[in-house]
Amino acid sequence: MKSVIQHLAILGGQRAFSEPLHVGRPNIGNREKLFERINDLLDRRWLTNNGPYVQEFEQRIADYLQVKNCIAMCNATVGLEIAARALGLQGEVIVPSFTFIATAHALQWQEITPVFCDIDPLTHNIDPLRVEALITPRTTGIIGVHLWGRPCAIEALEEIARRYNLKLMFDAAHAFGCSHAGRMIGNFGQVEVFSFHATKFFNTFEGGAVVTNDDELAGRIRLMTNFGFEDTDRVIYIGTNGKMSEVSAAMGLTGLDSLDEFIAANRANQAAYRAGLAGLPGVRLLDYNPTESNNYQYVIVEVDETLSGITRDDLVDILHAENVLARRYYYPGCHAMEPYVSRLPAADIHLPETARLTRRVMSLPNGTTVGAAEIDEICALIRLAVNHSQELQPLLRIAAAAPVVCSQS
Ligand SMILES: Cc1ncc(COP(=O)(O)O)c(C=O)c1O
Repeated sequence: MKSVIQHLAILGGQRAFSEPLHVGRPNIGNREKLFERINDLLDRRWLTNNGPYVQEFEQRIADYLQVKNCIAMCNATVGLEIAARALGLQGEVIVPSFTFIATAHALQWQEITPVFCDIDPLTHNIDPLRVEALITPRTTGIIGVHLWGRPCAIEALEEIARRYNLKLMFDAAHAFGCSHAGRMIGNFGQVEVFSFHATKFFNTFEGGAVVTNDDELAGRIRLMTNFGFEDTDRVIYIGTNGKMSEVSAAMGLTGLDSLDEFIAANRANQAAYRAGLAGLPGVRLLDYNPTESNNYQYVIVEVDETLSGITRDDLVDILHAENVLARRYYYPGCHAMEPYVSRLPAADIHLPETARLTRRVMSLPNGTTVGAAEIDEICALIRLAVNHSQELQPLLRIAAAAPVVCSQS
């Protein structure tokens, strides 16, 4: 464990980790079972197009979430696009900017304008108090994002949607296995969309799911996911190809068998981070509501430079040099990326909380490939940097001007 700043890799010391530690290294369940399923699907030669594994996967997800309909997808981005189209969204849709770019792009891809709303600095989620001011005659809906798996202000958004006759859907990419008011995420708004991308705690390589309790909407989404085919040779809508493949469903079924184990690992890691960072000035670890189900996937740290004496960016650089690949999720915010930034170059002014948070937040490694020993070391590195921030500042500037090649451990 490093205890003097001269040993930091960014200043020329040995890296703390010989292998990179990723934020979202994939969890893999029982390999034998996975290979068994892959052998099965190869024997069947039914590789895609609503095969038996996809059907079983959809049923298991629907049962787990207690939701009426689940349509498995090739990824969540296409899921969001299809859900938005099936809902009839057009014109303008209100979304947070503090999210992964896919939330905004899924709208813009079909010429729907995402209108960015600021967030509540405590929850990091869309601030319902700011939504109403953004509603115009062109607004058709709201997309809430359950960022970090923590449910956004669902009831407040439902109330606004009802009052203005707007559609409401949720980007639940982070929130598989999470609940709100005792009900699993997946049951709120008209439709919710999960991501099962490899970086998510539960993955199908690439994949996602659109879930809804509205049977009619589910039927439309299912058709749109398969080119609009109602039957062989009969297309009744414009559709696309959003289908999940059998091999992805095989991975998903295998992951579902180990879901409790994945969540338990994340939860234990969260507790280790909390203990390791306790009392450190200006370093706040986001918490999860203990009375609800959570997947505990995202280890989110907010760095307040005025108290920690060090910026989030310097901490990220220090950790990267040690092979801890902390991420600046979600920097710089959708509004600061193309095509949105060209359209509204001064959007930061209207999104002060988003702008502030994008400069403060970092995400740390979690999952079954990370354990207490690694977390102790990561926390010790952060402590070292914060506790010696004054001495460190000038050395970091020198190191930035003439980067050192750190020795391999
Ligand atoms: C909030 C959010 N929405 C949407 C997506 C898109 O998911 P996918 O990669 O499955 O298309 C992601 C992916 O990381 C995400 O974090």
